Amino acid sequence: MPAETPQPVTARLTSAAIFLVVTLNSGAQHGAAVRAVCADLAALVRGVGARAPDGQLSCIVGFGSDAWERIFGTPRPKDLHPFREINGVHRAAATPGDMLLHIRAERMDLCFELATQIMLRLDGAVSVADETHGFGYFDERNVLGFVDGTENPVGQSAFEATIIGQEDAAFAGGSYVIIQKYLHDLQRWNAVPVEEQEKIIGRTKLSDIELDEAVKPSSAHNALTSLVEDGREVEILRHNMPFGDAGKGEFGTYFIGYARSPGTIERMLGNMFVGNPPGNYDRLLDFSRAVTGTLFFVPSASWLESAAAQAASAAGGSGGADDAPLRSVPRAAASDGSLGSGSLQKERET
Ligand code: HEM
Repeated sequence: MPAETPQPVTARLTSAAIFLVVTLNSGAQHGAAVRAVCADLAALVRGVGARAPDGQLSCIVGFGSDAWERIFGTPRPKDLHPFREINGVHRAAATPGDMLLHIRAERMDLCFELATQIMLRLDGAVSVADETHGFGYFDERNVLGFVDGTENPVGQSAFEATIIGQEDAAFAGGSYVIIQKYLHDLQRWNAVPVEEQEKIIGRTKLSDIELDEAVKPSSAHNALTSLVEDGREVEILRHNMPFGDAGKGEFGTYFIGYARSPGTIERMLGNMFVGNPPGNYDRLLDFSRAVTGTLFFVPSASWLESAAAQAASAAGGSGGADDAPLRSVPRAAASDGSLGSGSLQKERET
């Protein structure tokens, strides 16, 4: 287990979430502005979250490849790159995004208030590329009617699947995350007999039991996304949420997958969109269109704290220290579901 404190990547699924993807505006000062917001984030999560102590408010912040140097300088996480579009049987689009805010809570008012406070502080520094509000839908189901998240790793397995160790020592405690916003053709999906739907997903619809290997097609979603390397299953952690707009006939799944290597998620996407073997693709995609696709790096909370410290000193000094490199400061673990940079914030406030 790394000494660095991760962001709350492995926190459990909640019943509300806001996914905010923003791009950095041009102008040398905006990188430092983003770092300054990172410095305030833990205090904001505490301030908003304290108003509903059982609300499980948390916030994860990630950064895209294109703006990494502008915000943090060097070094950069070794596997951070722009999301690679896939043109297989179906298309996985690549869309812009320099910063991701993954805000979760048991109540949407908490998510909304935190998003509002963060955006007030980011005013002028960023432009919103996409904002999606996700909601819990019956017993952990997506709008297709299937339970989503069943085979997610838990506990130590979730940690091992998502948190970087010595393979990138300068960024230990961090994670990669890929987001994709899918729109479903629900009318066509609902016209498919349940037995067929179950073969597409690979699990029964009502009882959520995995189909027997004898009846499960090799193109089933859970077959194509099960990866085994050297005899061991390689997992990712998904915090998918349904979203939609009934009036517009928009029904979607916001896919968000965390992993310690982006390659794991990329291999799953290849299997889904191109097929394994090629052509044996994921039939879920006949009913689901990926309209966004972005890869972010989620630094550890301790690393982010170090970045925030630099922003604070830059604010007291020259101001535009966009390219200044950062040092890594290992910290003890925080368990409050916040970014874990509270100690820094308290120092700054005194
Ligand atoms: C339209 C978007 C998607 C929907 C509606 C969806 C839905 C589901 C459902 C219902 C399950 C079975 C229950 C469970 O174990 O969670 C599942 C499993 C899974 N999905 Fe997805 N998924 C989507 C996209 C993706 C993408 C893009 C990936 C990865 C790139 C992915 C990776 C997985 C994995 C790893 C599993 C567990 C497989 C296993 O070990 O059994 N899913 N998904």
